[in-house]
Amino acid sequence: MHTKEIIISASILSANYGKLTEQAVEAEKGGSQTIHIDIMDGHYVHNFSFGLDVFPALKKQLSIPLVAHLEIEKPDYFIQDFADVGADMIVVQEDTCPHLPRTIENILKTGVKAGIGINPDRGFEKLEANPEILQKIDLLIVMAVYPGFGGQPFSPVTIPKIKKAVDLRHKYKCNFDIGVDGGVSIKTVGNIVKAGGNYLIAGSSIFGNKNLEKKEIHQNINELKKVAQNALAGDELFYV
Ligand code: DX5
Ligand code: ZN
Repeated sequence: MHTKEIIISASILSANYGKLTEQAVEAEKGGSQTIHIDIMDGHYVHNFSFGLDVFPALKKQLSIPLVAHLEIEKPDYFIQDFADVGADMIVVQEDTCPHLPRTIENILKTGVKAGIGINPDRGFEKLEANPEILQKIDLLIVMAVYPGFGGQPFSPVTIPKIKKAVDLRHKYKCNFDIGVDGGVSIKTVGNIVKAGGNYLIAGSSIFGNKNLEKKEIHQNINELKKVAQNALAGDELFYV
């Protein structure tokens, strides 16, 4: 297994919406390498979140890439719209795409990068059936929660799936990052990176929620990175 750079992606779903741009800027300054923006339609998930307009608003203030995580039904209808407003990567949920190779092509045709999210109860069969997809994506997200909400507990099925994703990357000689979305915190990140996950999407552990000690955004990012790096270095001083 080759070790890829640890990437932190702050998920603004858990940010304070009264100062969304400010907090996204703080995340960028604190070392978040991308901003993760969950798009929810009230159908695929029982929640609403952001729409198209948030992209230009954030783009004006940020220089790191914006990732649109489409947690919506029929994502193909909206790929061009998200590309047009400035998404740098579009991630679709594998279970929303009956023709996944076509969807990935549609994303790439717009000139943005493509990623795929896999829910806790889903496997990699569709990817193994179409391994050319694995060559084309930049990010494979192992969902550690069912989409829809921040602050959910980290599912134990995640760790073996990360290992399987590493095997697939090796088997098909690809280079995608392995992302984990949901429940990423200083408690789970050690095991995530030791299994081979390198792209850490975190909402509540960066922007804070009522269960966490209130800290600054940049402190939370630093701490996540530090615990991840210590775990990789074999330093047992990481939290489990
Ligand atoms: C869930 C979203 C996640 C969410 C994760 O539908 O895809 O990006 O922000 O939230 P936390 O990090 O709080 O589990
Ligand atoms: Zn997400």
